[in-house]
Amino acid sequence: MEAASPAFAQRLFAGIAPEYERMGALLSLGQEDRWRRYLVSRVPVGPNDSVLDVASGTGLVARELVRTTGARVISLDQSADMLAAGAVANRSAGMDGLIEQIVASADALPFPDASFDAVTFTYLLRYVPNPQTTLIELSRVLRPGGTLASLEFYVPQDPVAHLGWRAFTRFGLPLIGAMASPEWRDTGRFLGPNIEAFHRRFPLRRQARAWRAAGLSDLGAQTFTLGAAVVTWGKKRG
Ligand SMILES: C[S@@+](CC[C@H](N)C(=O)[O-])C[C@H]1O[C@@H](n2cnc3c(N)ncnc32)[C@H](O)[C@@H]1O
Repeated sequence: MEAASPAFAQRLFAGIAPEYERMGALLSLGQEDRWRRYLVSRVPVGPNDSVLDVASGTGLVARELVRTTGARVISLDQSADMLAAGAVANRSAGMDGLIEQIVASADALPFPDASFDAVTFTYLLRYVPNPQTTLIELSRVLRPGGTLASLEFYVPQDPVAHLGWRAFTRFGLPLIGAMASPEWRDTGRFLGPNIEAFHRRFPLRRQARAWRAAGLSDLGAQTFTLGAAVVTWGKKRG
């Protein structure tokens, strides 16, 4: 399968948008909601604040932000298909008037500097050509003192957990995906190797350096589910 890139991500998510939420819950064995809730718990905002949720997809993080903080939320994604599926979900949650959707790239955010009290992003940096450049752009639109917070898949570090994770990502994910559709089978095949390659290229230590270089401080990170996911956060300096 071709390397992850913005164009690759456009095709991938166009094919899986309608079933994204149901299949995501299945492929993560029901774990993802807990990870997203923790991500949102790291974002200290309230009803008078505004949050930009980047790589928002169908809006799972955006809706959790509205539900728990009451903040004004903009849901931004490069995939119109994912946002369209999100519009349906936002409507059934009674939140279509509360979440604004914007089609744009994380590498060229259509906002002035320091526009938001917080910026969140989920499963994004594996699809961008240069994670450092993207982090600088995400930080640019954040006000000084504001919070940047992220959720990403991770690779279990414990040798036994790693073996189990490898078996699940190489056999379980493609098998479960194949039962849904050819697009989900391909996604199931792609995810494990892509997650591993990303963390080899951009390990957490290097990510922390990149966050600092993008103007963030007070960094924190928390892993989940034996290390299958990591939530990372920091505060914009200045
Ligand atoms: C796995 S989905 C995450 C969706 C959602 N945030 C969640 O919690 O499940 C990743 C999203 O990143 C988006 N994406 C990938 N590259 C992007 C980019 N360069 N700019 C904006 N969105 C991007 C994809 O379109 C996709 O909707």
